[in-house]
Amino acid sequence: MKVERGAGGVEVEVAVAAEAERTAKRRRVAGGRRGGGGGVGRRARRRRVQADAAAVQRLFQACRAVFRGPGTVPKPAEVHLLRAMLDRMRPGDVGLSPDLKFFRTRDAAERTPTITHTTIYKCPDFSMVIFFLPPNAVIPLHNHPGMTVFSKLLLGSMHIKSYDWVDPDPDPSVSSCSSSSNDQLRLAKLVADDVFTAPCDTSVLYPTTGGNMHRFTAIAPCAILDILGPPYSIEEDRDCTYYTDIPYTHHSTADEGGDLTGVEQEGCRLAWLKEVDMPRELKMCSVHYGGPPISDK
Ligand SMILES: [Fe+2]
Repeated sequence: MKVERGAGGVEVEVAVAAEAERTAKRRRVAGGRRGGGGGVGRRARRRRVQADAAAVQRLFQACRAVFRGPGTVPKPAEVHLLRAMLDRMRPGDVGLSPDLKFFRTRDAAERTPTITHTTIYKCPDFSMVIFFLPPNAVIPLHNHPGMTVFSKLLLGSMHIKSYDWVDPDPDPSVSSCSSSSNDQLRLAKLVADDVFTAPCDTSVLYPTTGGNMHRFTAIAPCAILDILGPPYSIEEDRDCTYYTDIPYTHHSTADEGGDLTGVEQEGCRLAWLKEVDMPRELKMCSVHYGGPPISDK
C-alpha cells in the first residue's frame, strides 16, 4: 500500500512511546541499582518480550543481500532465510512493547481510525515499514505490482483477505473468461480469508502468487512489519491500485463459454475485482521511527 499522507494525531504516541518506554526502562534499571527497585524488577521480569536490538540490523543486511532491484524475485532459499528471521522478530526488536497504551486500547476511538506508519529504511531495492492499526482500522484491498512483500504481524490480531489474478498476464487483444463483459472487472481467486493473531508466522506474497492483492482489517490494535522489494514507485510504474471485490456470481463473464474448469478444479473461490480510487475515508499518517537504529554503512 502506498503511504504518503502527512503526520499528525495521537498516533504519534506510538513512535514516541517506544522511545519513552526505553527511557523509562533505563530509569527503572538505574533505580534498581540504587537499591529501591524490587517491585520494578518484578514488573520487568513479567515483561516477556526480549528485545534484540541487533535483530533489525541483521534483517536489514539480509534484505540488502536478497533484494537486488526491480524485476528480481527472491529465490526460495532467500525467502526461507528472510522468513526465518522475521518469524523470530519480536516487538521489542523494533522498540515496541505490548504494554504501550496504543496496544492496550480495545475500543475504536474514531469511526475511521487513523493508520500510522513508520519507515525503518528505504532504498530503491527495498523498504522496511511498520504499520500501526487501531481496532477496526482497514487497509483497503490493494495490490503490489511486481513486488515481493513479507508481512510479519508483531502485535495484535487482524483479518487478512487476499487474492491473485486468475490470469496474471492477460492478452488485451483476446476476449477472456477472466474479464467481465463490461471490461471493468477482472477475475481473481481467493488466497486467504483468515484471522491472524500475533505471534504468528510471516506471510509472503509474490508478483503473481501468494495473495498479491490484500486487505487488512484490525481486530485488536496491530503492528505489522512489512518488507517490500522493491518499494512502490510511480516513476518506475509501480503505483498502488485499490480495488473492491464483488462475488463471482454477481456478474457474467465476457465469454460465457469460457473455460474456468481448471481454476474450479483447484477448488478456488472466485471474485471480481474492480479498480477504485483510493478510499477517501482512508486516513494515514507517518511518524519518525523510534526503534533501534540501523546502519547502512
Ligand atoms: Fe499491502
